[in-house]
Amino acid sequence: MTTQHASEQIKLAQSDYPIHELIQRRWSPRAFAARAIESAKLLSVLEAARWSASSSNQQPWFFIVGQRGSHTFERMVDCLMEGNVSWASKASALIFTVAGLKSARNDRPNRVALYDLGQAVQNMAVQATALGLHIHQMGGIHVDKINAEFQIPPDHTVVTAIAIGYVGDPESLENERHREGELAARTRKPLREFVFGGNWGEEMGIRE
Ligand SMILES: Cc1cc2nc3c(=O)[nH]c(=O)nc-3n(C[C@H](O)[C@H](O)[C@H](O)COP(=O)(O)O)c2cc1C
Repeated sequence: MTTQHASEQIKLAQSDYPIHELIQRRWSPRAFAARAIESAKLLSVLEAARWSASSSNQQPWFFIVGQRGSHTFERMVDCLMEGNVSWASKASALIFTVAGLKSARNDRPNRVALYDLGQAVQNMAVQATALGLHIHQMGGIHVDKINAEFQIPPDHTVVTAIAIGYVGDPESLENERHREGELAARTRKPLREFVFGGNWGEEMGIRE
């Protein structure tokens, strides 16, 4: 059972065109409920990453997972940048995402490895939403520290950390700016600013 918080209604995407409700409901909370994720759900979220598309099916994604209360989780918290520690340390689990930068077939650079990793993480986000969970991705991590502490091999790059859990009470956030952000509506650029109908910057020709 999940508890509804006011934030969940406020964060619904106000889309200009209809989108699937799983995409509409995904957002990145900082307030997480103090409860564990069922292992079966965590495995489903990781399984969703597994079934993502990737260039030549190379699957260049890797994940380090620490569940709250474990030693791994504490070591992971120590690798987050300061602004992320107060809230992400309350998540039910943390995940480091890693991309393999060399092609598994010919040892040449895999130009799209980061793209594949990001896409796998989006699969995780959608699966998490379907299970009543939320994820919050973080670029604010100490990459060199993670490389050393977690023995990341050469030709692999740590890209992000992910906090995952059930949405909690916005009032539980220590930081006032975070509390305000938790109850602010989500905003996006309009399509016309990033969809072009010809050369760069040319208006898209798609009409309703
Ligand atoms: C690659 C990436 C890095 C991010 N880094 C951070 C971060 O370090 N700290 C943080 O609080 N949020 C971080 N975010 C969350 C974004 O700020 C958030 O996704 C964005 O504001 C859109 O909000 P929404 O996910 O709720 O739609 C990151 C998101 C992504 C995808």
